[in-house]
Amino acid sequence: MRAISEMARVSYVRQREALGLGHAVLQARDLVGDEPFAVMLSDDIVDSETPALKQLLNVYEKYDAPVIGTMQVAGEAISRFGVIDGEEVEAGVYKIRDMVEKPVFSEAPSDLAIIGRYVLTPDIFDELEKTRPGAIGEIQITDAMRSLLKQRPFYAVRFEGTRYDAGDKLGFLIATVEFALQHDELASEFSEYLQSLKL
Ligand code: G1P
Repeated sequence: MRAISEMARVSYVRQREALGLGHAVLQARDLVGDEPFAVMLSDDIVDSETPALKQLLNVYEKYDAPVIGTMQVAGEAISRFGVIDGEEVEAGVYKIRDMVEKPVFSEAPSDLAIIGRYVLTPDIFDELEKTRPGAIGEIQITDAMRSLLKQRPFYAVRFEGTRYDAGDKLGFLIATVEFALQHDELASEFSEYLQSLKL
């Protein structure tokens, strides 16, 4: 914890009411100012060789436009996510045509789900101010991005790595076990323990 606090100056704002992800991001407007910025949803854990956000930043630098992290999600589970419709411009990189938050399965425009990594530009804040509640009655960042898409290009990256949903109880447990099994100090004893379980 001490090492992390030495890495950067940390400031925080609190979202006083759970009005949605778009509303949460808007709370950071004054802290961010007129700069591009990253959004990382801490319940989306990505285990990858190159950090997922770095993979997005590489695309941001190349195309000079906002970038969203995505991964393929099969079947009806896609309805739990924002979903993009895009044209693949290079392997794993898409120019976004449209996006929709939590579509019903039959209306999902593709199998590419938005995962909680975004590199955004400050023009999103004016859009967020105008965004009314959407899917599940919340102010959605996807709706604000969709509106801004009329004025500027957006890209998506199908990032390399394994994503865990730590916002879900089972997903949290799975992530904990997988990371423990990779941990230098814990892996060996923890693995012995798991093997001793009479399942
Ligand atoms: C949020 C976003 C959604 C995205 C998801 C990824 O939804 O609104 O577009 O697909 O995170 O985890 P939430 O899971 O907060 O409902």
